[in-house]
Amino acid sequence: MINIKTADELECMRASGRIAATVRDAVAERIVSGVTTLELSEYAGELIKSHDAESAFLGYHGYPGIICSSVNEVVVHGIPNDRLIETGDIVSIDVGVRFNGFIGDTAATVMVGVTDPKVLKLVEVTRSALAKGIAAAVDGAHLSDVSHAIEQEGIKAGFTIVREFVGHGVGREMHEEPQIPNFGPPGKGPILRAGMTMAIEPMINMGKPGVKVLDDEWTVVTRDNKYSAHCEHTIAVTDGAAEILTKV
Ligand code: MF3
Ligand code: CO
Ligand code: CO
Repeated sequence: MINIKTADELECMRASGRIAATVRDAVAERIVSGVTTLELSEYAGELIKSHDAESAFLGYHGYPGIICSSVNEVVVHGIPNDRLIETGDIVSIDVGVRFNGFIGDTAATVMVGVTDPKVLKLVEVTRSALAKGIAAAVDGAHLSDVSHAIEQEGIKAGFTIVREFVGHGVGREMHEEPQIPNFGPPGKGPILRAGMTMAIEPMINMGKPGVKVLDDEWTVVTRDNKYSAHCEHTIAVTDGAAEILTKV
């Protein structure tokens, strides 16, 4: 069952979304050559606390980090560590917070002095794929219209779509129904209705679509070690255009 949020619940989702977005953007600004993802994570932890919120990730199914930080060939769920960020890297920062019982989940991929045009394109296309997915999330659409819009944006640029990890409903729980694949034919699945809240999160690869999970049981990497980009917003379906909840 896909639950429909009440007006009061949507107000709570706006508050948690705004905090998640504020933390995402503040952390993103600190991503420079020479910083470590562990330092970024500690900073995120302080900010989350300063908003009287909690990390929705820490301890989730045993996840050991406050945020996820996924560098280059890491697709998602990278655990912050002490490796130095370097020029040419791309870093996805995924922030999930719980505030007043509701979750905001958002991610951005930041480029660190990237000059390779194909890498620039990968990150731009991942952002525009998210925008297309959000644009397709209107009352009365089918769920897979969102999936299809994302996939088309990725493949028309010559990239590939990660299939093993998907977007999701979000609310009191981080992962609620439905799952939202980033690929598939349009016109399938449940009908979207105003009041549904969802995390839409394309994961797009420069090379082949295959991914694997490392021995730490979290870090998802591309099998061919080529770059992957990820971005995510929590949105609410409305009677008009979807409302982005993870905005500042
Ligand atoms: N934020 C991720 C998502 O977008 C999930 C992180 S799982 C965790 O769905 F364990 F790392 F928290
Ligand atoms: Co996320
Ligand atoms: Co998510």
